[in-house]
Amino acid sequence: MTVKTLSGLLDKMWKDYVDINPLAQKIYDLLSKEGEQVLNDHIALRTFNHPRLTLDVISRPFLESGYKYCGDYHFPEKKLYAKHYEHSDSSLPTIFISELKLEEFSPALNQIINRLVSEIPKGKELEFDFMSAGRPWSVSTKDYNDLMKESDYAAWVAAFGYRPNHFTVLINALKKHTDILELNTFLKTNGFKLNASGGEVKGSKEVYLEQSSTLANNIEVAFTDGKLTIPACYYEFAKRYPTKDGSLYTGFVATSADKIFESTRHGQ
Ligand code: NI
Repeated sequence: MTVKTLSGLLDKMWKDYVDINPLAQKIYDLLSKEGEQVLNDHIALRTFNHPRLTLDVISRPFLESGYKYCGDYHFPEKKLYAKHYEHSDSSLPTIFISELKLEEFSPALNQIINRLVSEIPKGKELEFDFMSAGRPWSVSTKDYNDLMKESDYAAWVAAFGYRPNHFTVLINALKKHTDILELNTFLKTNGFKLNASGGEVKGSKEVYLEQSSTLANNIEVAFTDGKLTIPACYYEFAKRYPTKDGSLYTGFVATSADKIFESTRHGQ
């Protein structure tokens, strides 16, 4: 079913996300049962900077729906560029979109990505709900493994296509679990595994943002020539602090996000 409204798109993205990441629904339910109001801080989306799929193409439905560009970020090590968008209605989640800089990768990787992109029906990427379309191409386990040699990010997008990489619980909106260390302990006590790359908590009060995340759950994905069990999505937690002017910081911290990207790496 195609959707044409922002709320419809956000709903569809959440349903698709918990479908492949049931742990997020479990955490959402666990916090709700504690009497918490679970609000989304941001939704993270991934793409390639292929001319048909740049983050500027992908962001269009959000800009049409009232979102505005509010900042950009460079991740030289991961060869990524990202922008974030905020809505004037502050109850709506921030949208964070990153794109992989294809020109910094081998001709072999580019060849695979160009082949995948050529399978997308003309104009499909311009549809309002493309960001919930899932995988718009066919891909083999060999493609996946070849991409993985150069970039786990490229392999993830090839395998999962266009759907949220993660949603993020806004810790500031919680009443009981207001401290990120306490929240992490609570989650671990309840059996959830956290991403410890760079420490469980990324960032600090000094940079106005603390974040932690679960490890991506592994799911079985069908490829053209067989199945692989691979990391899918993760759930993130963010606590924001006021800046010098007293308003809550709304941006992101590149060095923290750098480590968070590793939540979908193999072997973690
Ligand atoms: Ni995030």
